[in-house]
Amino acid sequence: MKTRFLGNTDLEVSAIGFGAMHFSLAHRAPEAQGVEVIYRVLDLGVTFIDTADAYCRDEDDKHHNEHFLRNALATYPGDASRVVVATKGGCMRPGGRWTSNGNPDHLRQTIRESHAALGGDRPITLWQHHAIDSNYTVEESMAPVREAVQEGVIEYVGVSNYRVEEIERARAVVEVVSVQNQYSPWHRRPEHNGVLEYCEREGLTFLPWSPLGGRSRAKSLHQIDGLATLAREKGISPQRLVIAWLMARSSCILPIPGSSRLDNTEDLLAAIDVTLSDDEVRRIDAATG
Ligand SMILES: NC(=O)c1ccc[n+]([C@@H]2O[C@H](COP(=O)([O-])OP(=O)(O)OC[C@H]3O[C@@H](n4cnc5c(N)ncnc54)[C@H](OP(=O)(O)O)[C@@H]3O)[C@@H](O)[C@H]2O)c1
Repeated sequence: MKTRFLGNTDLEVSAIGFGAMHFSLAHRAPEAQGVEVIYRVLDLGVTFIDTADAYCRDEDDKHHNEHFLRNALATYPGDASRVVVATKGGCMRPGGRWTSNGNPDHLRQTIRESHAALGGDRPITLWQHHAIDSNYTVEESMAPVREAVQEGVIEYVGVSNYRVEEIERARAVVEVVSVQNQYSPWHRRPEHNGVLEYCEREGLTFLPWSPLGGRSRAKSLHQIDGLATLAREKGISPQRLVIAWLMARSSCILPIPGSSRLDNTEDLLAAIDVTLSDDEVRRIDAATG
């Protein structure tokens, strides 16, 4: 497995990550199926798995995905000691809806709950602020995060759904190593709003969320003409081609696709061996831009 450094740190992680969200939302796959997929992800050399306290059905089910991953890693027959589970906090799921909560007391508490849910035996390697809550300033929400770093509960900090100006304000409070924003053939905003360029320049890892377009659009990638044509020419799926394209666009990009199925997971992760010429990258840019 090819690797990347996480931000400016000396921590090496796989160049493709995996997003485990769908194993905990409503209509989740059976737990045994999820564990089988995670085992395969680890067999294939992935050492970066994305989760969140809010990957659950509702508030009564909070931290479900973190518990699920902890159990999967603990029972994995191979060596999972180098696997980074990157979690997030700052979103709530009242009645299954998504809302943000940047209250420093809430963040202080959920960080500790995430730490416990992941095992509590070592710091959370990467904790990300899930989304800004306009009721609180970035500085107010980041203060408990800095505290948790100082106390050794968190090792590295990331942000998610942040704009450049907000990333800079967060970095004035605590060191930030990664940015997780939406980016896919369907959603190219990071190329235009300066976030991708900022991450490249500052040495931050950019984690595109829903890199295939999410559950509803991932299966429609074959409808993008230029993308489907190139995928056919190369004899691979449009989904695998998209992951290869994201990695080829910038060395700071570490995609975190998700799948609930073994065959699709294997298909996606084989993107690590796909090489794209500059011309092929330009063809996909043009087809999806
Ligand atoms: N920070 C945030 O605000 C935020 C928001 C959303 C997501 N995320 C993160 O991003 C991760 C990935 O997002 P996502 O799962 O929503 O979107 P995604 O990775 O863009 O797409 C997932 C969908 O793609 C399908 N798929 C995967 N491989 C396929 C293949 N080879 N052929 C056909 N279909 C395939 C999957 O279906 P099957 O299950 O049938 O394979 C699944 O429905 C999440 O797990 C989460 O960690 C973060």
